[in-house]
Amino acid sequence: MNYNYDSMITGVGFAVPEKVLTNKDFEEIVETSDEWIYERTGMKERHIGEEGMVTSDLCTQASLIAMERAKVSADQIDAIIIGTITGDVSFPATACYVQDKLNADNAVAFDISAACSGFLYAIEIADSFIASGKYKTVLVIGGEMLSRVTDYEDRRTCVLFGDGAGAAILQPSDGERGIINTYTGTDGHLADLLNMPGGGSKHPASHETVDQRMHFIKMAGQEVFKAAVKTMGDAAVKILKDSDTNSSELKWLITHQANTRIIRATAKRIKIPIEKVYINIHKYGNTSAASIPIALAEAVEEGALVKDDLCLLVSFGGGFTYGAVLFKY
Ligand code: ACO
Repeated sequence: MNYNYDSMITGVGFAVPEKVLTNKDFEEIVETSDEWIYERTGMKERHIGEEGMVTSDLCTQASLIAMERAKVSADQIDAIIIGTITGDVSFPATACYVQDKLNADNAVAFDISAACSGFLYAIEIADSFIASGKYKTVLVIGGEMLSRVTDYEDRRTCVLFGDGAGAAILQPSDGERGIINTYTGTDGHLADLLNMPGGGSKHPASHETVDQRMHFIKMAGQEVFKAAVKTMGDAAVKILKDSDTNSSELKWLITHQANTRIIRATAKRIKIPIEKVYINIHKYGNTSAASIPIALAEAVEEGALVKDDLCLLVSFGGGFTYGAVLFKY
């Protein structure tokens, strides 16, 4: 198959905090068990940032690794786009802090709020920037500290989330490989299935919003589960069809790491064997926008994803947002 490429990924990196919370640790925090968590989600551990750490710290660490691999210096970066819903502060964008920390003074910097799909939304924007000729080097990051908005008294959600960041440098394609196609979608009718209700214009932060624990993630787990299975499957099928590509040609499927049952359902939908599905949810839990770039960077570090491999990324997240990116590495 002859594909057309505008941009390609020239370097990836990821960073997670050192501190680990295991399923066993949660048995001391809420009424739960290692068995329940592992069987229902596939998770064993997640990394949690120590006090004082902020999202831009993890984003900067991941970026420096990606930049080194891409042989890109800070002053070459034209744009920094971060997918995040747990930035350092409500505003300005966390990308501004990363620009400062990297001294990437030539870069425009902004965040994308698309929950767990944030990294794929950002890849689509970066690819379009490069295709248009506007920019040559774009730093795309997914970074989260979900521990900061997790209610550790709510067993239905607290076991799920972790902290981390993944980064990728996108540059013009060499003509042989790169981003083949991107697809993004939104279903705002499902917006209230998964949100953090406090602190915005609807419920400005007050003693009352804090007392009602509105500054934590709220999720209708089963409804999210059903919508995730459908939207990820639909996105995967659509991008393969639109790109005239059969799933048998894929070397890897990397999806948002929210639940192994959702990941397996997506694999089944496009009839790809589970051996070709990269899963690291047992180590990091659900890191929202960071989960796909962490998996991507880890797959590269392990030598699992190598040059010329065809790879499909698929995501879903609060919003409801969803997306897919097909690329040759
Ligand atoms: N330990 C033990 N029991 C628990 C736990 C826990 N940690 N959490 C819930 N339970 C209990 C419930 O209270 C319920 O008990 P009950 O029947 O007595 O009421 C029982 O287990 C079953 O609960 P369900 O919610 O039906 O469990 P389910 O099989 O649906 O699994 C889960 C829950 C893992 C949350 C699943 O629904 C899921 O993965 N949903 C999708 C979540 C997701 O993917 N979110 C991603 C988006 S994140 C983002 O965008 C930031």
